[in-house]
Amino acid sequence: MFVPEASDSAKKVTESFYYILGIEVVLLALVTAAMVYSVIRYRKQRHPRSENMEGGPVLEIIWTVIPTLLVIIMFIIGWQSFTQIRKVPEGAMVVRVRAQQWSWQFTYESGRQSDVLRVPLGRPVKLVLHSQDVLHCLYVPAFRIKEDCVPGMETYLWFTADRQGSYDIFCTEYCGLGHSGMLSKVTVIPADEFESWYREAEAGGEAQGLRLLETKGCLGCHSIDGSKKIGPTFKGLYGSRVEVLTSGKKQEIVADEEYLIKSILEPAADIVKGYQNVMPKLPVNEDELKAIIGYLKEMK
Ligand code: CUA
Repeated sequence: MFVPEASDSAKKVTESFYYILGIEVVLLALVTAAMVYSVIRYRKQRHPRSENMEGGPVLEIIWTVIPTLLVIIMFIIGWQSFTQIRKVPEGAMVVRVRAQQWSWQFTYESGRQSDVLRVPLGRPVKLVLHSQDVLHCLYVPAFRIKEDCVPGMETYLWFTADRQGSYDIFCTEYCGLGHSGMLSKVTVIPADEFESWYREAEAGGEAQGLRLLETKGCLGCHSIDGSKKIGPTFKGLYGSRVEVLTSGKKQEIVADEEYLIKSILEPAADIVKGYQNVMPKLPVNEDELKAIIGYLKEMK
């Protein structure tokens, strides 16, 4: 396997995939062989005149019964893994997933938030998905699970991770400019390690500002190391001179506190030159805003 199987359902999905693939390979070989044989055996030099053939009850029964059985088995295997994927076990840990352009946010029952999905090994986890803006789709190849995130509607997924490690999360529904960068990770850790992370007190001060940038999804589009993403980098932003378009008019302004606050609360007001007007409005309260601004000011 190219992608590891890190959950129970992944094995079931892989099984049905190989069952269907196996049948297809055998059928392809049989059909191709019969075709090649007929082309050679009944070529024009040997059989200049065509003959009419009618009826062949035995053959007809065989080619009806065998494919019917194969398809019924395919259905049973598919139905079993499908019902398993839809039926969430009792006592599953619930994590709410918010998809937005272009990041993932995971909220635990305790209120703890993260931009990476941390889960305990061997415990069922139910993901309740919703979208803040457009259609997205959460896909975890290692668990073989995938579900759309639909605005105004809740969808769900569940899995029990049975292998420690870090696995990819992709968005597999085209959702605009930053779609290809809408990535995250599932980190599967031992239950006690998860428990201590889960209970850990929220960090304060500067670290809180950084944590907010992560959990609010800001870092999906803005870097803190100076690299260019969908939006301008945060590095060295505070106090720098920025060329912006304000209601279509070019102007140069200094990125002071007022500018930073306005850019967060009214993202469409001043568009930095060379970037598009694609930033969504994020829900932030006053304390969060303060912590974020505090962090941006400290950043050099
Ligand atoms: Cu979100 Cu593609």
